[in-house]
Amino acid sequence: MNSESADSPKEVSNTRGELIMEPSPLELPANTVRRIASELRCHPTDERVALRLDEEDKLRHFRECFYIPKMQDLPPIDLSLVNKDEEAIYFLGNSLGLQPKMVKTYLEEELDKWAKMGAYGHDVGKRPWIIGDETILGLMTDIVGANEKEIALMNGLTVNLHLLLLSFFKPTPKRYKILLEAKAFPSDHYAIESQLQLHGLNIEKSMRLIKPREGEETLRLEDILEVIENEGDSIAVILFSGLHFYTGQLFNMPAITKAGQAKGCLVGFDLAHAVGNVELHLHEWGVDFACWCSYKYLNAGAGGLAGAFVHEKHAYTIKPALVGWFGHELSTRFKMDNKLQLIPGVNGFRISNPPILLVCSLHASLEIFRQATMKALRRKSILLTGYLEYMIKHHFSQDKAETKKTVVNIITPSRIEDRGCQLTLTFSIPIKYIFQELEKRGVVCDKRDPNGIRVAPVPLYNSFHDVYKFINLFISALDSAETKIVEFSIAT
Ligand SMILES: Cc1ncc(COP(=O)(O)O)c(C=O)c1O
Repeated sequence: MNSESADSPKEVSNTRGELIMEPSPLELPANTVRRIASELRCHPTDERVALRLDEEDKLRHFRECFYIPKMQDLPPIDLSLVNKDEEAIYFLGNSLGLQPKMVKTYLEEELDKWAKMGAYGHDVGKRPWIIGDETILGLMTDIVGANEKEIALMNGLTVNLHLLLLSFFKPTPKRYKILLEAKAFPSDHYAIESQLQLHGLNIEKSMRLIKPREGEETLRLEDILEVIENEGDSIAVILFSGLHFYTGQLFNMPAITKAGQAKGCLVGFDLAHAVGNVELHLHEWGVDFACWCSYKYLNAGAGGLAGAFVHEKHAYTIKPALVGWFGHELSTRFKMDNKLQLIPGVNGFRISNPPILLVCSLHASLEIFRQATMKALRRKSILLTGYLEYMIKHHFSQDKAETKKTVVNIITPSRIEDRGCQLTLTFSIPIKYIFQELEKRGVVCDKRDPNGIRVAPVPLYNSFHDVYKFINLFISALDSAETKIVEFSIAT
């Protein structure tokens, strides 16, 4: 666990005395970019700065562990605008991470085993199927900051959220609310709505949604803490995302956990966009429960094996509401005597036997994380996203509006502590055309309603030169989009 490292943030406070998640880097990214530019005697936006940043990047070789899509293979590509053999600018690890090259090998190992020995594969080999999930648990501990007994790899994310809520949400007449962000991911919103309905509760009264202040895009920690302070006595569960899927805001999990628990609430997090992206210390923070998926920053492929965390303090007190045979202790599981010996903690929440083919892809990716370490990845990520922010601000900020028609806003918080890899961009013109033009040029990112384009340079496989190339493609995409909009308005 990261807890052993010297500068791990047990309860780190900043100069204002606020609980923070991780120490800030010694030099802000914009200053690093300027320093390098001055060493090279060039402008900070010069390509040489990107190349120097790549040269100095000790993690750059991890890109070789992944398949990077080529321009020619992307469905919306316009081959008149790009070199078909070049690698695409893949900035969509926030949605689906790239494929580690070892996935195929690991899948083949299990397919071979199946072909050659059939059911004997349950017990032998690198990943005996019966304990397939458990064979890779150790690789997940550093990523979420928990011990093996606190983590289970099972199901999909929303399924895990439901299973956890069934056990953690026990409303009483006095304490019956679930607190969450107003614009939580739809699946979380629906899961919570349906859990409330399951208890016969009135959704309007029991689903406590926190909105950003008027005119603001992201939530202020002080506002979250105020709601907890004022309404905590009636809140049974606080369920926040660790990092918000749309705005890219990273929530202060230790502060929310501490405040919630001080009022007697149970506190859980959906870590879909946080896991593999920022450093997590679930055990030290005392988080009650959490769940995550593995297809985004964890690169395990679409529909990959999800994860769940239950703090060890609950191992013997909070039990699964729904039980299956994989929640039964392994030593007696196959006695088949129908006398449940429940595994304490989250592993008792497992219901079915693990899907070994999904274990393989996650295994391949987690091995890379083990080598790279979350601490080093986060350090690079801060600089990589900081460089992207610097370049966007340089080319498109409001004060350039006189010369450029389109203003690009970054709605993701600018404080390093409040964001991960992703930046969400909003525009003064409709995003439909901009997005189409980006896709034609081999920039893989996504758009989300109402008006955001999400771009996420990922430290495991993206380079600083990717950011540099992205900016040039972005300038050209915006120019084309502006022309299209003018043509469209003349035609109508
Ligand atoms: C924050 C969040 N929650 C839930 C989900 C749904 O995940 P799943 O389809 O794996 O249940 C997603 C998917 O992207 C997500 O981003």
